Amino acid sequence: MTQHHQFDALIVGAGGAGLMAALHAAKHAKVAVISKLYPTRSHTGTAQGGIAAALANMEEDHWEWHMYDTVKGGDYLSDQDSVEFMTRDAIDAIIELEHMGLPFDRTPDGRIEQRRFGGHSANYGERPVMRSCKSADRTGHMILQTLFQNCVKQQVTFFDEYFVVDLILRDNVCRGVVAVHMDSGEMHVFHAKAVLLASGGFGRMFSVTSNAHSLTGDPVAAAFRRGLPLEDMEFFQFHPTGIYRMGILLSEAARGEGGVFINGQGERFMERYAPTMKDLASRDVCSRCIYLEIKAGRGINGKDYVYLDIRPESITKYKSAPGGRAVTAHELETKLPDIIEMMRVYQGVEPMKEPVPVQPTAHYAMGGLPTNNDGFVRSNAGDGLVTGLFAAGECACVSVHGANRLGTNSLVDLVVFGRRGGKALAEFCKQSDFAPLPADAAGEITAELERIRANTGQEKAATLRQEMQAVMMDNVSVFRTEALISAALDKVRELKGRFQHVQIDDKGRRFNTDLLETFELGCLLDLAEVTAVSALNRTESRGAHSREDFPKRDDVNWLKHTFATIDRPSGAALTAGAMALSYRPVVVTKFQPQERKY
Ligand code: FUM
Repeated sequence: MTQHHQFDALIVGAGGAGLMAALHAAKHAKVAVISKLYPTRSHTGTAQGGIAAALANMEEDHWEWHMYDTVKGGDYLSDQDSVEFMTRDAIDAIIELEHMGLPFDRTPDGRIEQRRFGGHSANYGERPVMRSCKSADRTGHMILQTLFQNCVKQQVTFFDEYFVVDLILRDNVCRGVVAVHMDSGEMHVFHAKAVLLASGGFGRMFSVTSNAHSLTGDPVAAAFRRGLPLEDMEFFQFHPTGIYRMGILLSEAARGEGGVFINGQGERFMERYAPTMKDLASRDVCSRCIYLEIKAGRGINGKDYVYLDIRPESITKYKSAPGGRAVTAHELETKLPDIIEMMRVYQGVEPMKEPVPVQPTAHYAMGGLPTNNDGFVRSNAGDGLVTGLFAAGECACVSVHGANRLGTNSLVDLVVFGRRGGKALAEFCKQSDFAPLPADAAGEITAELERIRANTGQEKAATLRQEMQAVMMDNVSVFRTEALISAALDKVRELKGRFQHVQIDDKGRRFNTDLLETFELGCLLDLAEVTAVSALNRTESRGAHSREDFPKRDDVNWLKHTFATIDRPSGAALTAGAMALSYRPVVVTKFQPQERKY
């Protein structure tokens, strides 16, 4: 039997954005957080290196410099009004987190300690700057724990291990969500005045990724299937230092503390490509340089990886630590405890004595649900908004990150826009009544889940998932061409066809991960298709979208955001329909597009 609940506001996702929004909304409204994980297992907990804010605790810094770096890092696709909000508000958001009890690292005189990070510079690109506030290399973990404890204190209601499978969105008004209670398998309808989506990314469409298994973009796919646009989906960031073959993140903080890239000839190659920022150039640049080295036969032993070298003797030799000073093993073990442990455990490497094999790993979706600066989801590429629907964090596209996000700007985004969204959500709830639920709100999605459960076809979800991840990794990753993307699109569409014939083995109700993982695959296939369609369409290179057949940035034709929508004929299956693309101009305020040099 379907269960019913009613709250003023629902937050879908219990990572940093969701919890920050919940905390602020719950001061004025009855709020529930719905998450398919226990909240402190959310992916924010794996964010390592820090959260940027121009506190200027270590050296001179200004939010305008942070803004410039973010806009330049985003290859001028960021909306600059949003970036200004983010970089200004970052300072106050960090202080708010500090006052909530977040245990930041401290300078000897008690201020929040900061470190360098890729693309963050002093004085508009002059030299690297120490801007990242951090708790060793467990910053996201600390943010998550702090926010969760404060939400509990604020008496936010949590529905843990409830899997949101559909939005109740009719006539451009969001009225709630439908979720599966994973333990019992029961359907639950949550009726609300407003919903804020904060479900994170969807990196599991790639085979080598830093993203947890849960990052399958289900609520994003649900919104898309209900006719909402997805913005700038062609831009997917590859972080340069994933553990070779596994993709697990090794924080950029390693290079902030002085680590360097080394090729198969023992050369610190980033000096050639980025003479000012070197190994601290932005991620899109570093990932491309790694592949260029590999293509030129300068991978390690001619293979498809390079080394990250954090040996104290190397850092001392290259003078690559802040101020060119020498570092000790003890210092590195204190500042980077988790990633050093990961190198030892997962790679069997002793990083104080040997360099570590790394390769670019699918890390972050710059694209997602378009929102305005208060988190309202846009209904089209113009100024239309959806009534009662908000989004924040990685699933949203404000757009502050443009074509490429700077490291540490994700945690800033989720606390700044989580907070703005939470406040706007509460205000919306104060002024609104509950819109009526449609008859049988859970009907369509229940039918889709039952179709998957009962299917007797010959396909297996694991096989389809592997094929999708392989083709996205090979054809739609750091370097792209028309031929590669077209082949990926054909493959994804073939897989979508085969998905209709997937048979699951577990036909039961309780904790049916077979069913839910298959459902997740369907969501990923939809998002992979949007990614490939948007990437094929953008005939230029910008940020993380690097087209070998269109190697130049083209501001005349492409200084605009892509909006992809699906036109689903009424009565058709939830996943059916033809895709259409439209565009929204980029907001340029302080910084005119320039050639990017690092
Ligand atoms: O490298 C890192 O620590 C990742 C940070 C980020 O993605 O912002």
